[in-house]
Amino acid sequence: MPSFPAVTDHVCLRDFNTLGLEARAAHYLRVTDPAMLVAVAADARLKNLPRLVLGGGSNIVLTQDFPGLVLHMATSGIGIVGETQDAILVRAAAGENWHGLVCWTLAQALPGLENLALIPGSVGASPIQNIGAYGIELKDRFHSLTLLNIDTGEQQVLDAADCRFGYRDSIFKQGLGRHAVILDVTFALPRRWTANLSYKELAGELAARGQTEPSAQQVADAVIAIRQRKLPDPARIGNAGSFFKNPVVAAERRDALLQAYPGLVNYAQSDGSYKLAAGWMIEQCGWKGRSLGQAGVYEKQALVLVNRGQASGAEIMQLAEAINADVVSRFGVQLEPEPVVV
Ligand code: EPU
Repeated sequence: MPSFPAVTDHVCLRDFNTLGLEARAAHYLRVTDPAMLVAVAADARLKNLPRLVLGGGSNIVLTQDFPGLVLHMATSGIGIVGETQDAILVRAAAGENWHGLVCWTLAQALPGLENLALIPGSVGASPIQNIGAYGIELKDRFHSLTLLNIDTGEQQVLDAADCRFGYRDSIFKQGLGRHAVILDVTFALPRRWTANLSYKELAGELAARGQTEPSAQQVADAVIAIRQRKLPDPARIGNAGSFFKNPVVAAERRDALLQAYPGLVNYAQSDGSYKLAAGWMIEQCGWKGRSLGQAGVYEKQALVLVNRGQASGAEIMQLAEAINADVVSRFGVQLEPEPVVV
């Protein structure tokens, strides 16, 4: 791609995705400055290539070589940018590491993100699937984001309503992601903070530590301990966190399932529907700890698929399909992958 010197060709992406899958990008650009994206948007040839925006690579399954341009976000910068009556506003560049941002806010005595400690990935990816854990979702702390529309070259600011956040969902998963690159995200961190201990396992962990009125740092430490116990460290074993969403079903469906399977783990949603714990169903189907070739189901958390060494993206997807087929035949519920499959 001589028209744009920073673009390199035939780049191996294995080190840029936490599943550790071998795939090549036909063209690759490490984006260290938003101005580079503005330049891409102004380059007729580059902007018309198929495009893949890569953050921390922690929520993506690469099933084949990518024929277009990979934009690998590596921008940096975190700072306080303002305040409202209720919140302090903190902005972070898309390329910042998510957990790094959480640690930065805690070090500044700005609580609010502690339940989301140690989630792998980048700041720019966090709104795309509305990351969530231990009782908090990104949308609960979101203020706005800036994006660049690569097709038009225009920048735009979206607020929470514009983003249409849902469970592991947003406008970016609904189509906008094909056109837009998130440049930065602004968070609203509450002035009047109270610990969110609504997730039973977190409350239990803190109680076991004798911390009944925990600080934000203590909450983060407890979340980190739970995650380290249950979820594999991508630096040691390739994975993309939860591989399936927890399916949401109508109340009648959940009642019928509960009759047949009294142990079914389920959570009431505010709209009257129920979320079912996919990990529990997968474990009931006997998949926990099993493998198909080099693709496996993590021993300590059946919702997580792992690369036991040299798995391909196709092998990971075959395993996912085999698991789904069993869950469908036993529970009549479809599982949907949580990561983006490319
Ligand atoms: N369970 C089993 N067997 C398993 C796994 C889970 O029986 O192998 C049961 C657990 O005992 C528990 C229930 O299923 O009763 C839920 O398990 P857990 O608390 O581990 O949460 P999860 O539903 O498996 C979700 C998120 C995680 C998030 C945790 C904590 C999704 C798809 N996953 O997992 O997010 O960290 O809750 O809030 O919503 C991610 O998105 O990558 C992720 C890790």
